Amino acid sequence: MTTLAQLTGALARLDREVVYTPQDFDRIARFMHEATGIRLTEANERMVYARLAGRVQDLGLDSFAAYVDLATLALAEEERDRLISSLTTNTTHFYRESYHFDFFAQQILPDIAARGRAGERIRIWSAGCSTGEEPFSIAMCLLQGFPDAAAHDVKILATDIDRAVLARAAAASYPPGSLRDVPKTLIDSCFDAVPGTDHLMPKAPIRAMVTFRPLNLIEPWPFRGRFDVIFCRNVAIYMDGDTQEQIWTGFHRVLRPGGHLFIGHSERLSPSLKGGFTIVGNTIHRRNADPAAGR
Ligand SMILES: C[S@@+](CC[C@H](N)C(=O)[O-])C[C@H]1O[C@@H](n2cnc3c(N)ncnc32)[C@H](O)[C@@H]1O
Repeated sequence: MTTLAQLTGALARLDREVVYTPQDFDRIARFMHEATGIRLTEANERMVYARLAGRVQDLGLDSFAAYVDLATLALAEEERDRLISSLTTNTTHFYRESYHFDFFAQQILPDIAARGRAGERIRIWSAGCSTGEEPFSIAMCLLQGFPDAAAHDVKILATDIDRAVLARAAAASYPPGSLRDVPKTLIDSCFDAVPGTDHLMPKAPIRAMVTFRPLNLIEPWPFRGRFDVIFCRNVAIYMDGDTQEQIWTGFHRVLRPGGHLFIGHSERLSPSLKGGFTIVGNTIHRRNADPAAGR
């Protein structure tokens, strides 16, 4: 229950001006670009104010300039992460762009199951996984067509720059709206009720397929082996062309020849990647063999 003192405090906060200038926005935009590759434009000026003003006030500061000084201090790692988390767009839901999962189940999974059962190492990466709906959708799909996947060397890695969404992904508790695109038959077989809430949680074998890790796509990637499939959907759209190209090039490097890359519905690979991939479906690309290697 909200007390009178809390209410009065909240009203006082609303009254207090937080000074926010175009120069503050420029500094925040520059910081976000350098730290994440995300490009904020003038159209985002109000959004930045709306998402950060409360935090500026909670810290007892009266200007964005003071807040940016604080958050970008070398030692203020936690506040820096919080700032990044406040300004990333984390929208997602289960089976988003469901044609990708149909393609995965029909065109990719039979080969993955055969190779996995033959003892090959199978790795799938959900890059920019947000709160986990995407990698759990992949795991659901995988276990439908390859129910013994866990008995083989098959893993799904799910990464994001935003530690707050990764914490929610690890909790794996989802409101019904997030499951709106999940086929009805799968809801019963793949989810358990979360006691005391109307939320649902993917069943334990689905959760066990996915490992969540923080990873910034614009920093060096720590992988040794290659991936069979990469989903990186609705992440690059917020970045500038050079950063996108750098990320697509990286995916080409870490995908095995014949592996697949799924990107968001409004994203396109940079022209320089044209020879590296073949378009095999709507925003679905198959990595070509390296000509010199002949495979
Ligand atoms: C809109 S969500 C996409 C979620 C999911 N892929 C989908 O399509 O439903 C974009 C995610 O990309 C993450 N992101 C943005 N910049 C990133 C970066 N430089 N490295 C890793 N993740 C990043 C954000 O934190 C956010 O969770």
